[in-house]
Amino acid sequence: MTVQAERTAGSAAPVPAAEPGEAVALPSPLAAGARWPRLEALAYGADYNPEQWPQEVWAEDVELMREAGVNLVSLGIFAWALIEPEQGVYDFGWLDRVIGLLHEAGIAVDLATPTASAPAWFLAAYPHVRPVTRDGVVLGGSSRQTYCPHAPEYRAACANVTGQLAARYADHPAMVMWHVHNEYGAPVSECYCPVSAAAFRDWLRTRYGTLDALNAAWTTAFWGQHYTAWEQIDAPRRTPMADVNPTHRLDFHRFTSDSLLELYTAERDVIRAHTARVGRADVPVTTNFQLINCKALDLWTWAREVDLAANDHYLAAELPDNHIELALCADLTRSMRGGAPWLLMEHSTGAVSWQPRNVAKRPGEMRRNSLAHVARGADGAMFFQWRASRGGGEKFHSAMLPHTGTESRIWREVVALGAQLAALRELQGSATAADTVVLWDWESWWALGQAFRPSVDLDFKERQLAYYEQLWRAHVTTDFAHPSADLSAYKLVVVPQTYLMTTAWADNLRRYVEGGGTLVVSYFSGIVDEDDSIHLGGYPGALRDLLGIRVEEFLPLRSDWTLSLTGSTAGTATVWAEDVELRGASAAFFYADGPAAGKPAVTRHAYGAGHAWYVSTRPDPATLREILRAAAADAGVTFDTGTPDTLETVRRVSADGVSYLFAINHGATDVTVPASGVDLLTGESFTGSTSIPAGTVRVVRLS
Ligand code: GAL
Repeated sequence: MTVQAERTAGSAAPVPAAEPGEAVALPSPLAAGARWPRLEALAYGADYNPEQWPQEVWAEDVELMREAGVNLVSLGIFAWALIEPEQGVYDFGWLDRVIGLLHEAGIAVDLATPTASAPAWFLAAYPHVRPVTRDGVVLGGSSRQTYCPHAPEYRAACANVTGQLAARYADHPAMVMWHVHNEYGAPVSECYCPVSAAAFRDWLRTRYGTLDALNAAWTTAFWGQHYTAWEQIDAPRRTPMADVNPTHRLDFHRFTSDSLLELYTAERDVIRAHTARVGRADVPVTTNFQLINCKALDLWTWAREVDLAANDHYLAAELPDNHIELALCADLTRSMRGGAPWLLMEHSTGAVSWQPRNVAKRPGEMRRNSLAHVARGADGAMFFQWRASRGGGEKFHSAMLPHTGTESRIWREVVALGAQLAALRELQGSATAADTVVLWDWESWWALGQAFRPSVDLDFKERQLAYYEQLWRAHVTTDFAHPSADLSAYKLVVVPQTYLMTTAWADNLRRYVEGGGTLVVSYFSGIVDEDDSIHLGGYPGALRDLLGIRVEEFLPLRSDWTLSLTGSTAGTATVWAEDVELRGASAAFFYADGPAAGKPAVTRHAYGAGHAWYVSTRPDPATLREILRAAAADAGVTFDTGTPDTLETVRRVSADGVSYLFAINHGATDVTVPASGVDLLTGESFTGSTSIPAGTVRVVRLS
């Protein structure tokens, strides 16, 4: 395999959307500052676990990988016990052989540090390293991810095994990427052992400086929780009441994310020291996120420390139209590093093995999923895993090479997908175009999740997905951003639920609207500051003036209540209502009945050169779409409800302005779209329009 010149990636500004056929000039997303594996095509491959198989199988693996077009594998992810069978004793022979075989076949290696799975000898030697839950349960081994992030013995052992690997393989020509650990924070993130509690106190000292500052931030005057010495502060373990002090718990979330990040950066820096020593500092280092299912990490902070964003995504079998959640996840991953190309590190060819009902993918679904990630900025699609395990906990999980072998539909689809990704190589480095952005913030999610909130139906992820879904169905591609990000390049900013909002973040939104932007804010946003203390004077305190309203009282609804709304259409609402008083805004929808009957439900406020919309309830999907349509009209965003919402349309644009239209038909009927150009997957050319047959994908280089 040939390698191409080093590609560098960095922060990219949002790119303007264009009509089909219209070229858009873009800032290159491949600015200085970050790195990407040196591959000649989009990455295609999987986690490869050869240690689960006799060596005779390895040659067949490599041969079949070539047949499938695999050009990258992640190796050694859980192999610590094989690499270091006893403390200080190493066996690299098997890894040398595997890497050698792969290299001879032109397959590049993403070598993992194996620290997500501490060996049995390690846990036996250092039993106190096992994590302790909030309830005081000490978790066992015989699995993976059994470690306390603060244990010095664990940290030292990670640095050691990482150093051994990096010293041996830093200059191996097969090496194109380093894969640190595996999915930090999933499934276990927090530890409540005494070592962790002491580390938490140190973290608090750094954050607050004085106990007075901590007592004020935590409102310890409430229930007489005042601290007079740092040693009195414990980890927020289970208490007699429903929950501990909410700010205490919020800080523990922040501390946990920071602690895990320290683990990552420590391993990364060990690797970097070795790659720098051998002149291979261009080889990127990253870790695989589990963006949507792992709430434990503030990934905006994490993303600054990785050379490229990499994510694992698995379809939520129980969700209707789960390809929309997939799209959200892909857009969020792309946004982690400002639009730079990212890598889908894991997804599945078929069913997983850890959901209650592991629904299998049907013919064509894997391809639609993979290409949807690529449409949304992934420069590769990888799977868990290469060959389906024969034994162990994940033997019912699908793989590129199923138990049945090559006489299977999945294998045929895997080979076909490899050829299709190879045909898309010119897309490498291009950027996904978006003129709308959704705010997403982990701190706010953590804060909202505390006990004693006005309704159990307040749900960060649910609101994110609800707003995203209506944008997706109207063919609006969105980026995601932290509330403090520069939003000036976007036409429309959507805030589905940012309960915790600092004054600085609110000022950022105010500046954005003043400058001519359009903002849509859903209920229970802008309620508290960084200490989870209310912004006083009427809700939503941080945003009242910007929204031109004041809310005196929240009116959470009983679970069986459905209210009626009147406006440009008649609609319904559930879960939440509010006493909204107009203070400059005008009403777009009213509550027709229920506890806020006759009061405004949705408002619009002209502010500076822009508009700020407020949605004080949970409207039914059609009404939410109508509200977003009206806001998009203010913003000048194309809101396409004419094209069927079974068709996913996304555009990538290269640095020199070539536009690519991805059209992914998730429905059962063919759809025609306006487009002139050539389909890179089939080589077909067309002028004016083309049909996207049911269940298929076209990637059109527009002319
Ligand atoms: C991922 C994990 C893999 C494998 C996979 C199964 O979260 O990184 O190692 O367990 O899930 O779906």
